[in-house]
Amino acid sequence: MYDFKGKTALITGAARGIGRAIALELAKGGASLALNDVNEAAANEAIELATKAGSPKARFYKFDVADPAACDKAVEAVVADFGGLHILVNNAGISIDALVMRFKDEDWKKVLDINLTGAFYLTRSACRPMMKQRSGAIVNLASVVGEMGNAGQAAYSASKGGLIALTKTTAKELAARNIRVNAVAPGFIDTPMTQALPEAAKAKMFEAIPLARLGTPQDIADCVAWLASEKASYVTGAVIKVNGGMYM
Ligand code: NAI
Repeated sequence: MYDFKGKTALITGAARGIGRAIALELAKGGASLALNDVNEAAANEAIELATKAGSPKARFYKFDVADPAACDKAVEAVVADFGGLHILVNNAGISIDALVMRFKDEDWKKVLDINLTGAFYLTRSACRPMMKQRSGAIVNLASVVGEMGNAGQAAYSASKGGLIALTKTTAKELAARNIRVNAVAPGFIDTPMTQALPEAAKAKMFEAIPLARLGTPQDIADCVAWLASEKASYVTGAVIKVNGGMYM
């Protein structure tokens, strides 16, 4: 457990899956939480659990991360409501899969807008208060396929590869203001996103994991919490693989 007392974290896509696990892990360390999602019912559940887990203040901010004005407004509201913003976790993400030759323009745009451009919008908004504070930690949820590619996941893997490049660039731009930017690249994690995959695709992925199990949202939350904490104060621009050895 890490000490997040006095810190405020904005976590996108925090209603369920990995985002919810990250919220609960930061809550255990005493972080105040601004939880974003588009799924209000699940987000309200996450708020309740975060409060039980030890967060002194947890609020829901409903907006689409692909909307730049909404991202600006949300960051302003978080700073006004909590008095600062210390941690940003760009976790919201979707996957629409098809072979390149059949990929629809609107699907390509949707995946890139949410997974990559959304993270850019929030990074741009959040780095303003962080620069004033002269401290901050940003953690981006990339993916193993952003590093190794995956047939049938052109848009998703391109979005995650782009997010890795965005992580390194912002790490270089913001280091002078003591803002660290890192990425976690999960492998195959058991969440609603992967539960929706066809059985054959799941079996094939499972065979490629040397540690012979799926990852859990907690496996990812542990790494994100470390990167967000002072214990990682000399770590920036890193892409940490949490994938059971699936890609080395
Ligand atoms: P999930 O589908 O269970 O949860 C994603 C959350 O993001 C949902 O609550 C959803 O409502 C929210 N969301 C979707 N679009 C949004 C938008 N436009 N604005 C705000 N919120 C939005 O997904 P999961 O598995 O928890 O994944 C979380 C992150 O981890 C994603 O970025 C995903 O790409 C990444 N990841 C997941 C892996 C896995 O195996 N589950 C593997 C590698 C990366």
